[in-house]
Amino acid sequence: MYTQSLDVPGHADSAQIAAPQDDEVRQAAFDARMSADGKIEPQDWMPAAYRKTLVRQISQHAHSEIVGMLPEGNWISRAPSLKRKAILLAKVQDEGGHGLYLYSAAETLDASRDDLVDALHSGKAKYSSIFNYPTLTWADVGVIGWLVDGAAIMNQIPLCRCSYGPYARAMIRICKEESFHQRQGFDALLAMMRGTDAQRAMVQDAVDRWWFPVLMMFGPPDAASTNSAQTMAWGIKRISNDDLRQKFVDATVEQARVLGVTLPDPGLQWNAERAHYDYSPLDWDEFWRVINGDGPCNRERLATRVKAHEDGVWVREAALAHAAKQAEREAGERRAAA
Ligand SMILES: [Fe+2]
Ligand SMILES: [Fe+2]
Repeated sequence: MYTQSLDVPGHADSAQIAAPQDDEVRQAAFDARMSADGKIEPQDWMPAAYRKTLVRQISQHAHSEIVGMLPEGNWISRAPSLKRKAILLAKVQDEGGHGLYLYSAAETLDASRDDLVDALHSGKAKYSSIFNYPTLTWADVGVIGWLVDGAAIMNQIPLCRCSYGPYARAMIRICKEESFHQRQGFDALLAMMRGTDAQRAMVQDAVDRWWFPVLMMFGPPDAASTNSAQTMAWGIKRISNDDLRQKFVDATVEQARVLGVTLPDPGLQWNAERAHYDYSPLDWDEFWRVINGDGPCNRERLATRVKAHEDGVWVREAALAHAAKQAEREAGERRAAA
């Protein structure tokens, strides 16, 4: 349960939205809250479409965190030193925690966690397409931290101001942890770039493979994003896909220079007129292919998730049995005291 969201001090006008009987009045109160840039809390009335959009977005986000543990998890047993292993373990564990906060945030919207997890396992629910690419070398782990977590931060910082309170609050903590993830990735790559020619070549190869899929993490171009206008009006999304992508490119070019790697796009160049970097068009056919299940690792990722869930049945059963036993004991103690 995401109890933090249920009773928020200082949110005095909650009752105003909950009390009116008439849907039009409720809608007007909701709209007024939106235009005042206020927060919506779980106990507030909200339009069904707003609730549905949030459940979809928050659960996709949760699935991405959980599936995102897998590509890097493959390298925990092969990390090149104890220090790197400890860092990677902490990072992968953080991603599991992000998934759990987000499933809890979705539950505050009356979504059932079992249904959400079933939708992931049956292939009905989407998760970030980036996690369907393989991690072939240790440099991939560094590049995921630097670029994938870097792109995630760019995407998620505006979500800290999202209109739905529990989601916004979850994102504040998540972004702090993502920032550590990005720095540890950059640091691992910097160590390799100061190493041998073979290590530098490994980093460059990883950057070549990840750069374009990372740019696609921001989603389809604005002109093809059908839901964007509505999610912007609802204060769920604050910055458009293309604007976020541009911010990421502009910030990353300088970091690549410090690292000493070449970003694999001959069209990448400073445009003085726009005061931004231009970059080549992305292969959106590849994006749709991967998101619809046909990326290099989609089947492997889902099979691993399903197996982990099935292997964990005994833990869930034991936890429920323990909770039932404890409730019984407490009820007995109450009876004895009465
Ligand atoms: Fe995360
Ligand atoms: Fe992360």
